[in-house]
Amino acid sequence: MCKSYYLDPASAEAAASLEIRPGMQVLDMCAAPGGKAVALLQSFLNTSPNESINLTLNERSASRRARLQRVLSDSVPSWSRSPIRVTSHDARKWGLHEQNVYDVILLDTPCSSERHLIQEPKTLRDWSPKRSVRLALDAYAMLAAALTAVRPGGVVLYLTCALSPLENDGVIAKALQRRGDEFKGLSPPELSGSEPSQYGCIVLPDRAAGHGPLFAARLQKHAGEE
Ligand SMILES: C[S@@+](CC[C@H](N)C(=O)[O-])C[C@H]1O[C@@H](n2cnc3c(N)ncnc32)[C@H](O)[C@@H]1O
Repeated sequence: MCKSYYLDPASAEAAASLEIRPGMQVLDMCAAPGGKAVALLQSFLNTSPNESINLTLNERSASRRARLQRVLSDSVPSWSRSPIRVTSHDARKWGLHEQNVYDVILLDTPCSSERHLIQEPKTLRDWSPKRSVRLALDAYAMLAAALTAVRPGGVVLYLTCALSPLENDGVIAKALQRRGDEFKGLSPPELSGSEPSQYGCIVLPDRAAGHGPLFAARLQKHAGEE
């Protein structure tokens, strides 16, 4: 029997919004511990129980990858037919190895995660404004890699659990400025209690029954480059 995996409702909705169809190539670039991967697979299985997708789950940290493997064996139903490949690459360099491959890429970046800052004194002590600047730089490098790896017409869903505008709309603004000719912005997923931001939407706990924080933006690579 599968174990339940508790996930913030905003994150679960975002993963389920991906509209995964049978046969798709799907990449979760920063996958551990695996909550959103399980949510997207479960939402696919609800609509297409006898079908499969090709799911690649990437995580650079070995210890977090081990946790991801445990979550997969505990929470993915044994009857799922979807092959799952777990990889260990640096997401910032993904585009060097694979270009124009994936139908859908979920990019849930490492971020300031202010909820953890409040809950964990050590994390708060380690935080500084410079950290947010560095995280935003890394997030942009990952988004650029995702835009290279997604196939023409494919979709990248960019997520953070940060409040910092630098790590949210700031990253999308930079992508539009530098690579705006390659892709277009799409309307963000409809998440309960979300409010619009400049390029996406944000779920704020004080206005969404404690859910979030979660920032989401959707980008689609222009078709016809193949
Ligand atoms: C926000 S967490 C992902 C949460 C996950 N999507 C989930 O729903 O459970 C970000 C993950 O990215 C990983 N990470 C950080 N830098 C990375 C990089 N350069 N390449 C790949 N993974 C990275 C972190 O170890 C962390 O596990």
